[in-house]
Amino acid sequence: MEKTMSSQAKPPLVAGNWKMHLTAEEAKRLASQVVKAGLEMPEAEIVLIPPFSLLGAVRKVVCDSPVQLGAQNMHWEDKGAFTGEVSPPHLADAGCRYVVLGHSERRQLFGETDAGVNKKIKAALRHELTPIFCLGETLPEREGGRTMSRVGGQLEAGLEGLEGKKVGAIVIAYEPVWAIGTGKTATPAQAQEVHAFIRERIKEKYGNEVSPCAIILYGGSVKPDNAFSLFREKDIDGFLVGGASLEAVSFIQITKEAIRAHKEKT
Ligand code: 13P
Repeated sequence: MEKTMSSQAKPPLVAGNWKMHLTAEEAKRLASQVVKAGLEMPEAEIVLIPPFSLLGAVRKVVCDSPVQLGAQNMHWEDKGAFTGEVSPPHLADAGCRYVVLGHSERRQLFGETDAGVNKKIKAALRHELTPIFCLGETLPEREGGRTMSRVGGQLEAGLEGLEGKKVGAIVIAYEPVWAIGTGKTATPAQAQEVHAFIRERIKEKYGNEVSPCAIILYGGSVKPDNAFSLFREKDIDGFLVGGASLEAVSFIQITKEAIRAHKEKT
């Protein structure tokens, strides 16, 4: 996606991270329902992010629609002896436009490091995949008053060595670890505080031109009943949805709430 206008002038971005869920049949059914609803919601950029093995099946459903395809991870190398890994060219070849990088589940359960995430972000950009770069603090970090230092550190390390133009082409997802899959959403004020901090950091480092363009998603127990109040916050440009993206009704409703709140903001 070309980043030439401010994030508020852009359509709300609502991405469904299906994690390690769904069979091929379930995935096709869900994708069809989202495509049908998506055709009536051209105001939003909708992204479906299935497990690798379901990318082909979902691609067939979304291919002639505005709904975009994304992947949940990738290696930074183009090819090689990396059993079990998937490369950026594989994802581009599979029709992906987006790739989630540095998700907290990858960091916590599979040992991903800031340095590795940085290599993946650079590799994604080389292959014209839009990274959805995830960051966020744990509960002890929040309770210890270390939210901003943690998020700031992840941001700086993840973007290390990138020039402003490239940073403007990245989607950032703030996902507080304590809010993921727990039903405990950050309050709109808590989310806004961190989103504004991220935007300010980008402004300090990359200037006034890049910072308003940066698309910053919120993720962590986003549901139809909290989507509107979250999205109304100034610096929230979209959502990365986990559990609620596995049901068409809730995912579509979240998208509608985002569109409604976006209209109020602009
Ligand atoms: P939940 O919406 O299930 O909390 O998951 C959020 C998430 O991790 C999206 O990437």
